[in-house]
Amino acid sequence: MASDSASGVSTGIIPRNIHFEFEENLPLDWHSNDPAITHLYDALSLTFPEGEKFFVDSVRHYADRIDDPELKARVDDFIKQESIHAREHRSYNRLLAAHGVDTSFVDWLMNHGVAFMRKTPKKFQLAVTCADEHLTALFAEAILSDPRIMKDAHPFYQDLWRWHAMEEEEHKSVAYDVYQTVSGGVGGYLLRVSAMLFVAQDILIGIPLMQIHLMRKRGQLFNMKSWGRAFRHMWVAPGIWRRLCVGILDYYRPGFHPSQRDPGPEVVKWRNLYVETKKREAMTHPQLFAADG
Ligand SMILES: [Fe+2]
Ligand SMILES: [Fe+2]
Repeated sequence: MASDSASGVSTGIIPRNIHFEFEENLPLDWHSNDPAITHLYDALSLTFPEGEKFFVDSVRHYADRIDDPELKARVDDFIKQESIHAREHRSYNRLLAAHGVDTSFVDWLMNHGVAFMRKTPKKFQLAVTCADEHLTALFAEAILSDPRIMKDAHPFYQDLWRWHAMEEEEHKSVAYDVYQTVSGGVGGYLLRVSAMLFVAQDILIGIPLMQIHLMRKRGQLFNMKSWGRAFRHMWVAPGIWRRLCVGILDYYRPGFHPSQRDPGPEVVKWRNLYVETKKREAMTHPQLFAADG
């Protein structure tokens, strides 16, 4: 399936202007009825509004250096998707605050962290975006292909995270292709992999630190049962953090390109389901995974 962007060029990237209804009666511990697992995803959500705006700006900065009309159209659709993601995660984060979770320190950290990043050279900012996009693509690949990751989540959040994952999968090569247009050779490779060193520790260590902070604010810091379940979820089965660590190594190959990673057949099935609707109803669709075994 492919879309026609505003320029009329088919890009395969479909910005779905979905509005999720973040209602107050949604459970606070929406994943596995467990605070530590839930706050892992909540911490990620708290980084998205500022983070995705940064990604968009770092790619947009080089928009007038792109001559290829197909890549120009993909950049347009990438910007639309990320802007909608940021909007929906702002609503997600507002509900978290409405539930009484104090997110002010994480917000402060994100605002200052991104403000610092914006002072670095523009090419490094784009390299950071490429590295972040690889991590989000790995995350998306895991969510879309492994039913265990969202199996015990509330249907509303399953729907939200799979929608975001699917769109990340669709646009995973855009920032990388822009980077390759403006930065090649050995210098381009070295900058790209150095940015990943920076981003990998930022995500793999920074997000769990935010998770610990949210647990502390909830008065759940010493909930060892919950930490045990979260450890298993992140590192053992389904092991989402373990999968990120393994997938990062791929990025260091000189011939790496995001499109070389095959997310599996489930992605096409998810894409066919995610049509644009104004009011989003909870969807789990376990049959998608069951159909092909
Ligand atoms: Fe996104
Ligand atoms: Fe993205």
